[in-house]
Amino acid sequence: MLKNKKILLGVSGSISAYKSAFLIRLLVKQGSEVRVIMTPDAVSFISPLTLSTLSKNPVYSTYYDATTGDWHNHVELALWADVFIVAPATANTIAKMAAGICDNLLLAVWLSAKSKIILAPAMDLDMYQHPTFKRNIDFLMAMGVEIIDAENGELASGLVGEGRLAEPESIVQFLIDSIIHKDLFGKRFLVNAGPTYEHIDPVRYIGNHSSGKMGIAIAEEIAKRGGEVNLVLGPTAIQPKNPLIKVHNIVSADEMCEMCSRIFKESDVAILSAAVADYKPLIKSDQKIKKQEDHISISLVKTQDTLATLGKMKTKSQILVGFALETENEMENAKLKLAKKNLDFIVLNSMQDKEAGFGKDTNKITIIDKSEKVLQFALKSKRMVAIDIVNHIITKLK
Ligand code: CTP
Repeated sequence: MLKNKKILLGVSGSISAYKSAFLIRLLVKQGSEVRVIMTPDAVSFISPLTLSTLSKNPVYSTYYDATTGDWHNHVELALWADVFIVAPATANTIAKMAAGICDNLLLAVWLSAKSKIILAPAMDLDMYQHPTFKRNIDFLMAMGVEIIDAENGELASGLVGEGRLAEPESIVQFLIDSIIHKDLFGKRFLVNAGPTYEHIDPVRYIGNHSSGKMGIAIAEEIAKRGGEVNLVLGPTAIQPKNPLIKVHNIVSADEMCEMCSRIFKESDVAILSAAVADYKPLIKSDQKIKKQEDHISISLVKTQDTLATLGKMKTKSQILVGFALETENEMENAKLKLAKKNLDFIVLNSMQDKEAGFGKDTNKITIIDKSEKVLQFALKSKRMVAIDIVNHIITKLK
């Protein structure tokens, strides 16, 4: 699928640089033309000879060859590429890219590049969580750079956590999805995300801890793959970055249901990840409730269930996906919701893993299909979980 694609691979100085050799082999097998540039540190981790033999092209790590005096033209290299991917991309290289520092050939190529740019970070878990790293990634993503999130597992330091370079097979799949697949083109999606707020009085509400990150990641993935996305978003500080995503802001569960029902009529697929309140105050006080009694009680009544409403509206050609958040009898409860709400599949969020769930950047999911097929996934960043969910939707669209 990547036949004749010109792929410029940047390798920076990480233990995981050995994976670049496997990555090059896979790319060459795909029929891609691969050229490699390395940072001066990277050559301590893997030999340029290995990478040039596998890529069948000379490998550059300096501005000029001291033995021949040949100058390595960074502009020509940058313009040659259909895609420039840095894998592994260290915290240092990413920081320099974000700052516009140009003290090696790889960075000079980055500053001249006009192609699609993809980074696959690799580092220790504390570096990966560092606010400066997150700030740099956010800045680069806002510029349109795509990120292949690091995986969770054993690290070279002996620690276990997020920071491992994505496996070469996942990197190749990411490249195929990103360069080739606009597989959702022409399809219309409804996604909902975030919490809802049910007002008690003008200053208080009943809400929940949902950040909306999972649904926003799904909307971003769909938009990246060419789908048209309407995102119905509850009150959250986080907003999608892709300007092609149409955002509809709502506050309460009933507003959520009304907006989603309207958009669903014009949608091929709906993915409802929002944490919608199940109950709202029977009466919303017009005035702030004053502190008088020792005990007060608020009568609550059921809100409208958006997912169940769409389940009733659904036609044969539409696909409906729900989420389930369970603290006990996870599978059993999720299967009941799948059937009761007339879904094509349900995404079960595990509350068992402390790194998964509300407000976190990672999630651990199980997909339960209406055919009873169960797919379990490892703990991953929400961006990578979104890819798994969208890939499963694609199996239904075919
Ligand atoms: N949902 C919804 N409207 C509601 C409540 C839930 O659309 N008023 C949707 C959620 O967006 C999710 C799915 O239903 O996709 C399951 O939500 P969850 O909170 O796990 O389950 P509930 O159906 O609310 O049942 P319970 O709270 O008893 O687990």
